[in-house]
Amino acid sequence: MAKVRKAVIPAAGLGTRFLPATKTVPKEMLPIVDRPILLHVVEEAARAGIEDIVLVAGRGKTAIEDFFDVSYELEDKLERDGKHEWLNSLKQIRSMANIISIRQKQPLGLGHAVGAAAPVVGKEPFAVLLGDEIMISRTDQQTVTEQLARRFESTGLSTVAVMEVPLEDTSKYGIVEGDVTRDGTAQIVKVKNVIEKPSQGQTTSRFALPGRYVFDAEIFEHIRNTKPGKLGEIQLTDAMVAIAKSKGLLATTFEARRYDAGDKLGYLMATIELGLEHPELKTSLRSYIKKLAEKL
Ligand code: G1P
Repeated sequence: MAKVRKAVIPAAGLGTRFLPATKTVPKEMLPIVDRPILLHVVEEAARAGIEDIVLVAGRGKTAIEDFFDVSYELEDKLERDGKHEWLNSLKQIRSMANIISIRQKQPLGLGHAVGAAAPVVGKEPFAVLLGDEIMISRTDQQTVTEQLARRFESTGLSTVAVMEVPLEDTSKYGIVEGDVTRDGTAQIVKVKNVIEKPSQGQTTSRFALPGRYVFDAEIFEHIRNTKPGKLGEIQLTDAMVAIAKSKGLLATTFEARRYDAGDKLGYLMATIELGLEHPELKTSLRSYIKKLAEKL
């Protein structure tokens, strides 16, 4: 089975939940401690063996492109000042993957954004990682994208990540329905249906899509045939229903800590928890949080 070597990261949203900060800075470039959200996402893909990353950006595209490019003046200064550690970390970011940036000209939905990557991805299987969801895996663990890619490579079936959410939260996500089996600690769903943000009572399934997918290139054909759905947008979930009915689609639970960094509370949680693991900050942040908690 073909290896998953390419990934698509849609990063074209307007970031309205983070206004005014996102008026000029794309939400994917907001920092979690000292690393932009997007760097965590690119790193997850790179750890899964992804070589080429197609960034589908709208406005704010230049800040994202510049981040993964050489900054000659900065690197020259770091070199002259003997700041080799910083210099190396900047060089390491550049060599993580080939970043290919394309523009989604109109915000017509997630399915449309993924479809815009078709000419670059071609006929290969590929991963999709939503640019504002952060998945943190231990260094001895497979990343979520890696867990999906390996299952695709062993089954030949498109495979997406799911997490169980309380029934009252199902209306915030794409929800997967199907027959559930187990493989070790993972629950595997043979997907029969996917509903984008169901209304209360529309489903009893609690398997929500947190934004990690591996698809057979056939998905592009289904995206092309997808009519505007929920909110008048071309929904990726509608194309997923079509691929579930043709070649088949699996969903799997995963091991990782997940943060919705596109949401203010999720962003703060990620900042605090990753701050508590940051070598320079962990001791002082921990004692600050303890003192603060006593006052609350
Ligand atoms: C998108 C998808 C949805 C998925 C969610 C995960 O929705 O359409 O299926 O569950 O991302 O974050 P959005 O959050 O962009 O409205």
